[in-house]
Amino acid sequence: MTAPVFDPEFRKKLDELFLWRRDVRHFRRDPVPEPVLDHLLDLTCATPSVGLSQPWRFMRVDDAGRREAVKAEFTRCNAEALARRDEGDSAAYARLKLAGLDDAPHHVAVFCDPDPAQGRGLGRLTMPETVHWSAVMAIHSFWLAAQAQNVGLGWVSILDPDRMKTILEAEPEWQFMAYLCVGYPEQDHGTPELERRGWEQRCAERRHWIRR
Ligand SMILES: Cc1cc2nc3c(=O)[nH]c(=O)nc-3n(C[C@H](O)[C@H](O)[C@H](O)COP(=O)(O)O)c2cc1C
Repeated sequence: MTAPVFDPEFRKKLDELFLWRRDVRHFRRDPVPEPVLDHLLDLTCATPSVGLSQPWRFMRVDDAGRREAVKAEFTRCNAEALARRDEGDSAAYARLKLAGLDDAPHHVAVFCDPDPAQGRGLGRLTMPETVHWSAVMAIHSFWLAAQAQNVGLGWVSILDPDRMKTILEAEPEWQFMAYLCVGYPEQDHGTPELERRGWEQRCAERRHWIRR
């Protein structure tokens, strides 16, 4: 295999990919072609993982009954989150759209196998949580790869992990990591939705993140 050469034009596009990747909550209903979805999930398997353990477990959720149960679980958890907000910002919270579960044509649950045989335990003795980090990295790979196909992804975490395992009949040892809504976005945006709705602002100042 010959290594590719990444030229300036590619780098410019890659910068744009990073800057235009969004958490999407407003989806068109037309499906993403199955070969595209397969390609995205295949690419995701190239994600780095501790000890090459590849602990991510992706589950396509197509069953209407399961999807309804997930929506009900989101509604329950979101109502609880709203009830716990201070009076000062509960109205602003209530106005946010925090999931695109109704319209997204594809739903993907992500789990982590916390003790996979693959990788033979390498790198996990002192920091067992690195398997979870590996699974999160896989989600980010999926997110960026999707964006490169102009496919949007919305991460839903306002869910109870144990209830999600029951709803989705996951393997007993798997741990719930994320529920992803996938589909073509209604619109593309250069800024996060939470920023556009005045909830929070992205801080781009390097000194905020990097110490010397
Ligand atoms: C671990 C994680 C959990 C998230 N959970 C939710 C969620 O439950 N609902 C939601 O609307 N967005 C969720 N998001 C998306 C963030 O709100 C979003 O990434 C952030 O506002 C920045 O916007 P951007 O991704 O468009 O740049 C989550 C993101 C991450 C990384």
